[in-house]
Amino acid sequence: MSLPLAVLVSGGGSNLQAIIDAVEAGRIDAEIRLVLSNRADANGIERARKHGIPTAVVEHAAFASREDFDREMIRIIRAHGAEVIVLAGFMRLLTPMFIREFAPNIVNIHPALLPSFPGVHGQRDAAAYGVKIAGCTAHFVDEIMDNGPVIIQAAVPVMAGEDGAALGERILAYEHRIYPQAIKWLAEGRLRVNDRHVHLEPSDAPLAAQPQGALVSPPLEEGF
Ligand code: GRF
Repeated sequence: MSLPLAVLVSGGGSNLQAIIDAVEAGRIDAEIRLVLSNRADANGIERARKHGIPTAVVEHAAFASREDFDREMIRIIRAHGAEVIVLAGFMRLLTPMFIREFAPNIVNIHPALLPSFPGVHGQRDAAAYGVKIAGCTAHFVDEIMDNGPVIIQAAVPVMAGEDGAALGERILAYEHRIYPQAIKWLAEGRLRVNDRHVHLEPSDAPLAAQPQGALVSPPLEEGF
């Protein structure tokens, strides 16, 4: 059975688009059952509509508490038969209740090499700190923000004089590769989590050439 996903977005939805493209191209054996946003104006909702994917908007401001908001999201996600939660630029903190409902099947993409620079401005914080290597991380989600076990990371050098926005764009290009790859592995049932460590079961899938000017680990497969 294809892995039934709910993708949660708050903004542009470029990671959502990368996942949609990979699913439509048959590179991931998954079905996006729902794209859910806390913002009606999220471009990700528009992207989903263009591809005929069911959408829902749950405006967080309409709820008295985070728990009420999360309960409504759970209800809608379950009603669409989604079992795996893909956070793709979803800018609300999830309650432990929500996380326990779906764990361990919640994944996130973060625009920094965790555990460095958690929080909402990973790229900007990395550029401001002056690190020479930055990157992105796809990881399982636990009850602590940007903390769960790491599935895959991509590291890129920081260019001289580069600001957070420019760095963020280069990182984003790798988000679009590692996140669909992580979801493909999840859909294949090849990820084993042991405490903080994610083990990728080997397969005979051919590997892509290691990208120029970046380091991705575990290595990307062909097509990612
Ligand atoms: C990405 O940088 C992601 O890492 C972060 O939020 C941003 C979302 O971008 N969590 P998009 O909405 O996928 O274009």
